[in-house]
Amino acid sequence: MRVYLDHNATTPLREEVLDSMTRVLRDVHGNPSSGHEEGRSARAAVDRARASVASLIGADADDVLFTAGATEANNTVLLGMACAHAGAVRHIVTSAAEHPSIEAPLERLEGEGWRVTRVGVDSEGLLDEEQFERAIESDTALVSILWANNETGVLQPIERIAALARAKGIPFHTDATQAIGKAPVDLREVPVDFLSLSAHKFNGPKGVGCLIVRGDTAFEPILHGGPQERGRRGGTENVAACVGLGTACELAERELPGRMRGSAELRDRLWEGIESKIPDVRRNGSTDRVLSNTLNVEFEGAAGELLLQALDVEGIAVSSGAACHSGSVEPSKALIAMGCSPESARGSIRFSVGYGNDAAQLDHLLRLLPDLVERARQAVGA
Ligand SMILES: Cc1ncc(COP(=O)(O)O)c(C=O)c1O
Repeated sequence: MRVYLDHNATTPLREEVLDSMTRVLRDVHGNPSSGHEEGRSARAAVDRARASVASLIGADADDVLFTAGATEANNTVLLGMACAHAGAVRHIVTSAAEHPSIEAPLERLEGEGWRVTRVGVDSEGLLDEEQFERAIESDTALVSILWANNETGVLQPIERIAALARAKGIPFHTDATQAIGKAPVDLREVPVDFLSLSAHKFNGPKGVGCLIVRGDTAFEPILHGGPQERGRRGGTENVAACVGLGTACELAERELPGRMRGSAELRDRLWEGIESKIPDVRRNGSTDRVLSNTLNVEFEGAAGELLLQALDVEGIAVSSGAACHSGSVEPSKALIAMGCSPESARGSIRFSVGYGNDAAQLDHLLRLLPDLVERARQAVGA
């Protein structure tokens, strides 16, 4: 039996999503930009999907710009906003615990002379709000803060910091990739100007996502070509992928409260089991401002990479740090930002539950885990 507990890395496709995509791949072959019936029918499918995305997050359908995932959305907002400043280098405020798809374009901008302030997080992973307020300067062009951390699941106080940026007249971007489909995100209540999301993190297909661009907030496209996406992203839309994303949004909108309850139950069962069966364990990150599906645990003195491999051999998929880093033993950046030592970070494992998990699977893991942790601890001592 395989037990998949790595839903923050990616999620299985829901049957309903597959069905909607299959129908489009089979029956809708027109180009959404064409004026004939085939084109109009493809356009209608993309626009229905756009409406479903907008409805899930309380946005306007016109603000939804389809991309090839959150990495493209994050690059678009950072590099596109920088281009909109027509060569004048300025300042950006972000946090010390962002995803590489934010950090890498920021490093590129720093290479071009932009200044970047990375606001720290406390030992629970929560943004230092006082430092955030002080970080905003007269030439700050953009604020970009992760909504939910991919490694710890910690939820930032987005409502408050977005309101603060708005009060100072600074465009606010949030990478909400991990929050969508797992936590309430309602843009009628949070004054964000840009938001990134990705379908494969909530049971949609890989390689599609969006950037929400509210109103006429300034940015330059980074993909130049045809007039698609109202001139903001050239290239023929991936119609089936957009439809898959739309279906995933419809499911998330219907199921969110149940999903949150179910995953919190599983996550708590797992933590209670770990705590009662294994000595010297510690939960990383806030325990109340956290995604209901994510549990990040330090097994003190254990080699996390070895534990991950041993679990994999036993049929259990988990992660130690961001998926994009797997294969390397770099300690998790989010945990280091919270003040963990590199050894503690290396001894930490992320369990993220989701569709298809049940209590029996977690009980199976809990039967295996004590011995495997013991072996991963002995490996460090050896
Ligand atoms: C917080 C966050 N942002 C961005 C991404 C990148 O998303 P995508 O795989 O759609 O490019 C991920 C995925 O790992 C993520 O967790």
